Amino acid sequence: MASTSPFTLRWGIIATGWISQQFVKKTDLLSSNRNVEDVAHSLVAVGSRSVETAQSFIRAYGGGSDNTKAYGSYDEVFADPDVEAIYIGTPHTKHYENARDALAAGKHVLCEKAVTSNAAELRALLKLAKEKNLFFMEALWTRFQPLTQEVKRIAEEGTLGLPVSMHADLSGDFDIENIPKTHRILDPQLGGGALLDLGPYPMIWAVLALYEHPANKKARPTSISGAMVKTPLTGVDSSTSFTLNFTETLRAQATLTCSITLPNMDPAATIRYRNGSILIHPPIYKPTSFTVQYFDKPGSGKVVREVKQTFDILGGGWHYQADEVARCIRDGKIESEVWSHDKSLLLMDVFDEVRKQGGYVFPSGVEKVV
Ligand SMILES: NC(=O)c1ccc[n+]([C@@H]2O[C@H](COP(=O)([O-])OP(=O)(O)OC[C@H]3O[C@@H](n4cnc5c(N)ncnc54)[C@H](OP(=O)(O)O)[C@@H]3O)[C@@H](O)[C@H]2O)c1
Repeated sequence: MASTSPFTLRWGIIATGWISQQFVKKTDLLSSNRNVEDVAHSLVAVGSRSVETAQSFIRAYGGGSDNTKAYGSYDEVFADPDVEAIYIGTPHTKHYENARDALAAGKHVLCEKAVTSNAAELRALLKLAKEKNLFFMEALWTRFQPLTQEVKRIAEEGTLGLPVSMHADLSGDFDIENIPKTHRILDPQLGGGALLDLGPYPMIWAVLALYEHPANKKARPTSISGAMVKTPLTGVDSSTSFTLNFTETLRAQATLTCSITLPNMDPAATIRYRNGSILIHPPIYKPTSFTVQYFDKPGSGKVVREVKQTFDILGGGWHYQADEVARCIRDGKIESEVWSHDKSLLLMDVFDEVRKQGGYVFPSGVEKVV
């Protein structure tokens, strides 16, 4: 008789900051109360630059297990033979080295966004992952949430027609005048600024609506135009806009914006078609509702039907991506089909180009592969 016990993925967590706490805390990774029966997760080890911090992280977020090991370095987690997969929650500019060391030690990797400082670092990681036959994924959790899957279904089922134009924004007011210049959102050594921190989210929706649209046939943008406003505090971008044309197979354009000095806007993403629009309500990293407007005839703009869908998100919403990682590793895959390597590479190539046009140069030594 076939076993019904779930495949349990044994995680090691790198860094104990805000996002690692969200990823691990009981309602997410370790909860058995979210109607998932085929995969589960266990927290084998936590690595921090301080062992005391790792210990208190486990006490606070470890789900009460006495078996989770606390380490005062990341290398000890990579070396632990009980750990199968590493979750990387360090600042952006540390991701490359952390992921490289994890892969070199034979571990699968789920790495926070922005996945690396630049596209060359990501290409080097993907090459290593392939050589070692290990799973690697950027932690773009939004793409795995049930609402996002439903938006994709509607965007592709045909009633709205082909996408023509879209706008997506993610902004967050970080109160930059009153935080230390060493905060990761301001420090260029840590890849600070709006683009790398917030830009992945407008990009997720551009990828879903345009790049992934079957009529686009996976064609990359034919042009990228970017503009940055910098803060005099540290020179990182406080507001950035970038426009992507998809004209090889579509006649479509994405206008994407992000800012670290503004709150969210509603709708946070609008995808426009000749027959109607899809409006995604904020926050675009974890929306709980969206509205589809249908016009009476193509191009009229007269809304004759409006359908709003609302979704409950269990816990913080990070476990959907963790379950995807577990399923892929269980099935021997080295990349997810949902957020595949080509999409992460597209994001990093776009960010490189926008940084180039915006004149944002990292301090010497930040980029480990150029
Ligand atoms: N998916 C999402 O929704 C989401 C949300 C927020 C952030 N993120 C991403 O997650 C990453 C971390 O963001 P966060 O908000 O968690 O940051 P954070 O609270 O500052 O935590 C970062 C952690 O990284 C470790 N670290 C290693 N080297 C560091 C250095 N030189 N300076 C500062 N910290 C260092 C520290 O952990 P130890 O002291 O334990 O070593 C620190 O606690 C970023 O890449 C960000 O884009 C994702």
